Amino acid sequence: MKLALLGCGTVGSEVVRLMRMRGEELASRVGEPVEIVGIAVRRIDRDRSHLPVEKELFTTDALGLVKRPDVDIVVEVAGGIEPARTWITTALAEGKSVVTANKALLAEDGPALSAAAKAGGADLYYEAAAAAAIPLMRPLRESLHGDTINRVLGIVNGTTNYILSQMSQTGATFEEALAEATELGYAEADPTADVDNYDAAAKAALIASLAFHTHIDLGEVYREGIRGVSAADIASAAAQGRVVKPLCIATREADGVSVRVHPAMIPATHPLANVNGAYNAVFVEAESAGRLMFYGAGAGGTETASAVLGDIVAVARNKRGGITAFPPEAAYQDLPVKPIGG
Ligand code: HSE
Repeated sequence: MKLALLGCGTVGSEVVRLMRMRGEELASRVGEPVEIVGIAVRRIDRDRSHLPVEKELFTTDALGLVKRPDVDIVVEVAGGIEPARTWITTALAEGKSVVTANKALLAEDGPALSAAAKAGGADLYYEAAAAAAIPLMRPLRESLHGDTINRVLGIVNGTTNYILSQMSQTGATFEEALAEATELGYAEADPTADVDNYDAAAKAALIASLAFHTHIDLGEVYREGIRGVSAADIASAAAQGRVVKPLCIATREADGVSVRVHPAMIPATHPLANVNGAYNAVFVEAESAGRLMFYGAGAGGTETASAVLGDIVAVARNKRGGITAFPPEAAYQDLPVKPIGG
């Protein structure tokens, strides 16, 4: 199975590293090796000697790479609307399965991309597009498809949660906390997408579209960023036994749905109040399943790459004709089961 990687920044470079590190393990899960045959980058001259790949794999011709006849799977982690949309639609039209982390594009063009995948007979997977490492997209689009979801409430941006957590716990200023979040690889290339909640709004549109089986346009999401939250607001919240959190709230109502992202004061005893740093948490309230909580790393190169790798295995397996048996026919390693208390 041959894979083209589009983008080699914080997430892409971790996809490369983890795929090389876990090559055998992934091959056993797919049923055959998955090989990276090209990596499209914006700047070819950047030093990437720390990455465990031959430098001949790098190219600036992303579209040419997508169109290569031997490529089966395209992984897009470059972000932005164009040229990512052209790369993805071209791949899907040629029947190549696509894995993407591109929430902005999915929020803007999800239905058209799904239609392109259907027309091309290809898969479109995007677990990493919201809440990074947390399995959330596939539970919403698969596991919960027999239920009716009424509300989704959560923290879906790691950078804003990191900033507000640091401001409240260490007394850091907004600028200091943002600089740290950028240094740690949580923030987007342009961090205004995070702090003004455009990133969270795109994720909210995506989550609500999946949860409510409808298309929610990015422009329909009420959005307010966290720039207006001052140290005084945080202190005043604390004096009332509350904390300020960047929330995403999507609700099914009698006559439609509402979706919003904004900072809000919540009681310090609320489970979301203790979700700190770059962690995300999402509550899903479904009619039969009741209240579900998804919690974990919401940003970070390695964590996001974990979700991308999971999608790569899924689409590669689908290409081979479906889910492998459990337990797997060809075990990667034969681990002994240890007796408890023996
Ligand atoms: N910048 C994003 C965040 C990365 O901070 O949540 C994960 O989508």
